[in-house]
Amino acid sequence: MSSTTSIHGMWSSRLAFILAATGSAVGLGNIWRFPYTAGEYGGGAFVLVYLLCVAAIGVPIMMAEIMLGRRGRQSPINSMRALAREEGASPFWQLLGWVGILSGFLILSFYSVIAGWTLAYVFRAAGGLFSGVDAAGSEAMFNALVADPERLLAWHTVFMVMTALIVARGVSSGLEQAVRWLMPALFVLLVVMVLYAAQAGEFRAGLAYLFYPDFAKLGARFGEAVLSAMGQAFFSLSLGMGAIMIYGSYLNSRASIGQNVGIIAGMDTLVALLAGMAIFPIVFANGLEPGSGPGLIFQTLPIAFGQMPGGSLFGALFFVLLVFAAWTSAISLLEPMVAWLVENRGLSRPRAAALAAAAVWLLGIACLLSLNLWSDITILGRGFLVLFNDLTANVLLPLGGVAIAIFAGWIMRRASSADELGLAGDGLWYLVWLVLVQFVAPACVVLVFLNAIGLF
Ligand code: PHE
Repeated sequence: MSSTTSIHGMWSSRLAFILAATGSAVGLGNIWRFPYTAGEYGGGAFVLVYLLCVAAIGVPIMMAEIMLGRRGRQSPINSMRALAREEGASPFWQLLGWVGILSGFLILSFYSVIAGWTLAYVFRAAGGLFSGVDAAGSEAMFNALVADPERLLAWHTVFMVMTALIVARGVSSGLEQAVRWLMPALFVLLVVMVLYAAQAGEFRAGLAYLFYPDFAKLGARFGEAVLSAMGQAFFSLSLGMGAIMIYGSYLNSRASIGQNVGIIAGMDTLVALLAGMAIFPIVFANGLEPGSGPGLIFQTLPIAFGQMPGGSLFGALFFVLLVFAAWTSAISLLEPMVAWLVENRGLSRPRAAALAAAAVWLLGIACLLSLNLWSDITILGRGFLVLFNDLTANVLLPLGGVAIAIFAGWIMRRASSADELGLAGDGLWYLVWLVLVQFVAPACVVLVFLNAIGLF
């Protein structure tokens, strides 16, 4: 491909890319979604399958996705069209970009609602509402929020406006500074939470729950559990919808993709495990239910903050940092659509951001109403929020990821992919990667799908 830069701007350094991509990966997926999903499937066995999926499917696909973005240098739709042309393949490959836009749209609509819960909790913590709260009180507080559509709408709106503002300015300017300081701060705070859980919670029970793989617990739900673990890996690594692809398109041509992916995936996994290590000891110490669902961290953490000295300040800080983590992920969810609107519809960046965010905001209203007024409207037994959550992570992202793997492994000439990855085409690393994207990742995803629907 001839162009070496993107019209939307470039990261100022390799570090800037790592920070932005880690900012995309680390978010509610690690701290909210990972613990409650692990809890729904009984802990250790789920976590083990999750880690295997990250290593064998997530890492090679992330390399492929960054590579395609960097070679295409445009929004995912246009990048895929250009790459298909370059490789003499069918223009249908741009469909991959469209499915990605759909996934981003659905994910952000509910992601923003959950980020809204997080915003609400900043003020509850700061206002001292957690002090001395017990399990029942914390649950009641959470249920009151979820039952209140006006409150949910207000916070969802605030979060979508925050996201649109940064995307309107261009991701490389606003984002870099924010991620550089806030990500390390979140990390430190999580470590402090783990230390707190180690002395105030049932630490041994929490760790055993998280790291002792008891496959008997999956029992009859084995297929569903493995699918959810795989979906969690795609969701947490931001794979399969073009977010990482577009971030790759802003990366300069010299940076080593493999090394960067190692760092990003490693950080993402570490944050998820730390979140689990902070939460489960508190869950067990307070007789809470690990499988209680999406409210898990919102019901668990307030109890801990309410007991620790300085908990109001500490709790507020924690939720502020979680809002930032969600924010840097949400930006990457919106960016592919906005880049496409700029490229193909000739909109200015601010207009494109406003339009895309408004559409997502509307769909988000359906998600937040599904928690209360519309709770009896269900599709496949799920309200909108849960439906979009399951459908994207467990179906759309893996499908997008497999398409990326197949394009990178089978359609792209080896000379192109080896060159773009900066690896020797006959070297061991390149061949390992190639086997993973050509065979291992697609086969695993297909088998997990077939198994989940009971055909295998
Ligand atoms: N990875 C983000 C998180 O864990 C969510 C996300 C998914 C972001 C897909 C972009 C694309 O919170």
